Amino acid sequence: MLTIHFDGKLAAVTGGASGIGRATADVLAECGARVAILDHDTNAIAATPALGASHHAMDVTDGAAIEAAIEALETACGGIDILVNAAGVLQPPRPPEALTEKEWDRTVTTNLKGTYLCCAKVGSRMAARGHGSIVNVASIAGLCSGPLHAYGPAKAGIINLTEGLAAEWGRRGVRVNAVAPGFTETPPLRLAFAVKHLNEDTLREATALGAILQPQDVAAAIAFLSSDLASMITGVTLPVDAGYLVAGSWAGYGGTRRRPATK
Ligand code: NAI
Repeated sequence: MLTIHFDGKLAAVTGGASGIGRATADVLAECGARVAILDHDTNAIAATPALGASHHAMDVTDGAAIEAAIEALETACGGIDILVNAAGVLQPPRPPEALTEKEWDRTVTTNLKGTYLCCAKVGSRMAARGHGSIVNVASIAGLCSGPLHAYGPAKAGIINLTEGLAAEWGRRGVRVNAVAPGFTETPPLRLAFAVKHLNEDTLREATALGAILQPQDVAAAIAFLSSDLASMITGVTLPVDAGYLVAGSWAGYGGTRRRPATK
């Protein structure tokens, strides 16, 4: 039987105080990893402690803060074996006319620069030790177009970054992969439903499986890519999207629920 067991490996999860990062921290801990949550929201960390995880305040957009947090963590606990970059911010759908420069900067800086800095600082240490696994959280928005003119390019950048770093560090024992989640029921998505930026039924209808994802669905894929079960997989972006990407192009045929033609 195939099972995932991390045998006390040290996993660092950015954005682990909420949503997909939080579910990932729980799953990695359940599979035997020692988990360190790195997040700038110290209130959320305190309110919802993950299973046995240690907590560290860190802003992923601040290179010096990342260096300090990583140094302190590795001094206390040993080298990081697994890095999951789940810290990120979503963006409301808007045309460019309504998207401010400030919002563009915040979205791209948190998602793309934050992922790059954490990869660079932790991955370099992994490469020096000769082993490690990184999973970045991209998005279906990085794989197809939508009205997210900051978030989409940032996530597409993460996908390209994942490929480049996988090639960069492969010979030094470091794998770098990404997941591209579809719409996942986390606090920011629930807020988007509440303020009617998005409609739950429409999103469900747009997927092949007719589902909105739960954070645990994404966490399971992250755990797989982090683990030795995926030891020959690097540089890929795995959509975890209930079939949103494959069903979208059926709109011109009336969607996946169309009545099949009989003649
Ligand atoms: P969330 O808001 O529940 O969790 C994001 C976490 O990142 C929070 O704990 C927040 O404090 C932390 N964070 C934000 N900025 C930070 C910073 N500068 N430094 C450190 N920590 C920071 O959101 P969710 O939905 O769980 O998103 C997690 C990741 O999944 C993000 O990268 C998001 O873009 C991605 N994603 C989410 C989807 C969804 O439908 N919820 C779909 C596709 C991707």
